[in-house]
Amino acid sequence: MRKARSAQIARLLSQTLSYLTILILLLAALLITEAPAPAKEPVKEGAIPVGEAGLKAAGVGEIVLPEPDTTGPLSLETLISKRRSVREYSDRPVLLSELSQLLWAAQGITGENGFKRAAPSAGAKYPIELFVLAGNVDGLRPGIYRYVPSTHTLVTVKREDARGTLCAEALSQECVEAAPLDIVITGVYERTMEKYGERGVRYVHIEVGAVAENIYLQAESLGLGTVFVGAFSDEGVRSLLGAKEEVAPLGIMPVGVKR
Ligand SMILES: Cc1cc2nc3c(=O)[nH]c(=O)nc-3n(C[C@H](O)[C@H](O)[C@H](O)COP(=O)(O)O)c2cc1C
Repeated sequence: MRKARSAQIARLLSQTLSYLTILILLLAALLITEAPAPAKEPVKEGAIPVGEAGLKAAGVGEIVLPEPDTTGPLSLETLISKRRSVREYSDRPVLLSELSQLLWAAQGITGENGFKRAAPSAGAKYPIELFVLAGNVDGLRPGIYRYVPSTHTLVTVKREDARGTLCAEALSQECVEAAPLDIVITGVYERTMEKYGERGVRYVHIEVGAVAENIYLQAESLGLGTVFVGAFSDEGVRSLLGAKEEVAPLGIMPVGVKR
């Protein structure tokens, strides 16, 4: 009688253990499937997809730019006093190292944590995107490129010399076609408006001014000339860049060696 009872208890215990094991296994399976997906890599500054250009896979048609120089031969005061808008250029091509320097001065990463840039930005939202229309750049095939600050690289948008078309979209201002390259400054208003609402529009325009002045001064330092061109067809330039509607062209800066 006692034996039978002990056997019954043992059976009950083993059954309970089995149920417990099944329950633990079920709970574990549930936890695994419910576990949050690993956090996505934060979008790198400057690597934010923009229009069609942003859809290009990383590494495809990507050009690594030479390291920028953080020292220069002339004082800031000299550069400010010498700076003038230049609309005529020599036939000498612009070097890739010079283009690299200009883009770094405009939007290059200068913060030690790889985030902050050469030009100030309201709320560090960085709404400015730069495009380069290269025609006569030593070491770079003619084409349209987008600058990626985080990697200091150019991403190919189109492989064609588009300076003539850009010139036509800019009221046929000759300097746009004559320059070895044009930098098109664009802004994505939403990035700044998300934080500042309507006032964000003003902030983006102010930032264009800061970027443009950096390009002017860097060009001066390199013996190059540039001019800020504000007269152009917004839609014509945007479509030439193959960019989405959110990308607003806000300035064109032809660059070349001063004649
Ligand atoms: C917002 C803005 C728009 C401009 N648009 C043009 C333009 O479409 N074409 C042009 O040749 N110069 C343009 N400029 C350059 C001015 O004509 C030039 O800065 C002005 O004559 C002063 O000369 P400086 O830059 O040599 O000091 C523009 C300048 C600014 C600030």
